[in-house]
Amino acid sequence: MSAQATAYTMAEKLSAPPRRIRLGIVGGAGGFIGPVHALAARMDNRYELVAGALSSRPDVSKEAGKAWFLPPDRVYGDYREMARAEAGRPDGIEAVAITTPNHLHYDAAKAFLDAGIHVICDKPLTTTLDDALLLVEQARRTGLCFFVTHGFAAYPMIREARARVADGRLGTVRLVHVEFVMDWLTDPIDLMGDRHAAWRTDPATSGAGGAIADIGTHAYHLARFVSGQEVTGLSAALHTMVPGRRLDDNGHLLLEFENGAKGTMIVTQVAPGNECGLRIRVYGDKAGLEWRQDDADHLRFSEQGKPVQIIGRGEAGLSADAQRMTRVPRGHPEGYLEAFANIYSEIAAALWGKISGTAVPHPVACATVEDGAIGIAFIEAALRSSRQRGEWVDPRLPSVDGSKP
Ligand SMILES: NC(=O)c1ccc[n+]([C@@H]2O[C@H](COP(=O)([O-])OP(=O)(O)OC[C@H]3O[C@@H](n4cnc5c(N)ncnc54)[C@H](O)[C@@H]3O)[C@@H](O)[C@H]2O)c1
Repeated sequence: MSAQATAYTMAEKLSAPPRRIRLGIVGGAGGFIGPVHALAARMDNRYELVAGALSSRPDVSKEAGKAWFLPPDRVYGDYREMARAEAGRPDGIEAVAITTPNHLHYDAAKAFLDAGIHVICDKPLTTTLDDALLLVEQARRTGLCFFVTHGFAAYPMIREARARVADGRLGTVRLVHVEFVMDWLTDPIDLMGDRHAAWRTDPATSGAGGAIADIGTHAYHLARFVSGQEVTGLSAALHTMVPGRRLDDNGHLLLEFENGAKGTMIVTQVAPGNECGLRIRVYGDKAGLEWRQDDADHLRFSEQGKPVQIIGRGEAGLSADAQRMTRVPRGHPEGYLEAFANIYSEIAAALWGKISGTAVPHPVACATVEDGAIGIAFIEAALRSSRQRGEWVDPRLPSVDGSKP
């Protein structure tokens, strides 16, 4: 494969709304992912960021609002006040991005749904399955859009991997191996004042899961997304390797999928020398594939009995979905920020469809509130299994299998 795809700008490939969607943000001041949301939303010119509650501290929110060039009267000290005020404005926000620590996701999402505003929320959706199911119910009842930002699923070569599984090129999927291997919590930085680490290892702000929630939900979503299979059983061993830490920082899981495929998951934040080692391998009875975030532009594709192929982003012949997610020609790296922008641009099409009452002209594969709830059911199942020394449990949602796990 050598010829290149010809269309490079998102505008040529993903339908754009006829005007920018008015977006607000909760969180962001001094945070990691809030600014990523703000950047990603604007990369393809489909949103204008017009309001925010950027911190739990009103003074910090106001200061940050100035630096973000938000209109001063639309920088709020409290997200509930923001939801009420924006809902009352003729030019109020149409969607909100929720980028706070986990324990605030439910309350913030509910406040904006109550106000009739579409929601884009970071993962994990909530800290309990009960709350997650309430958000599913509220989103369905109100008809509002609700997306969860699993950005890794919008890398072009992840879309290519998904397309190759879906079109049968792998044959029947037999094995799914996913891992998210990091080192940043190897030292007890959470106990030494690192605030990003501190809230992630505190049950009051992270929820009952540590690594299993923080990166396990991403790995779980990716496994489901690429394989096209729901997980029907899991056995988990979760560990806390750093003395004094209150939540898990390492986990080993066995997975069973609805078609009988078997899999494994490794999640760890205590493996020295690993930055953001997200990798997925899927093997069917005809072929297999492997993708790694540290070589995100390439997909290893191996047909049984044939030479292994390294497929590059931007090459000719890739799936329509992979092409839609591609911005620049092959050889120019695309990465995390572009993948995050891909979800924002895909979501814009769904939002505009809802706002204008028109059909969405292409598939929107971004994670929904249901996927978010499936992630929370996964966390609770993994914790339950680990407490029972690896007993097999069913991680599915009540609505998926008809019975509460
Ligand atoms: N999708 C991804 O790839 C990804 C990556 C990192 C983090 N996350 C998720 O994003 C969320 C935030 O993570 P982070 O790493 O940015 O955390 P962070 O600690 O870096 O930032 C948290 C932000 O929330 C703000 N905040 C806290 N309380 C608030 C309140 N009451 N009102 C308004 N703002 C408030 C803080 O001011 C800060 O800006 C978490 O749920 C995390 O799991 C997702």
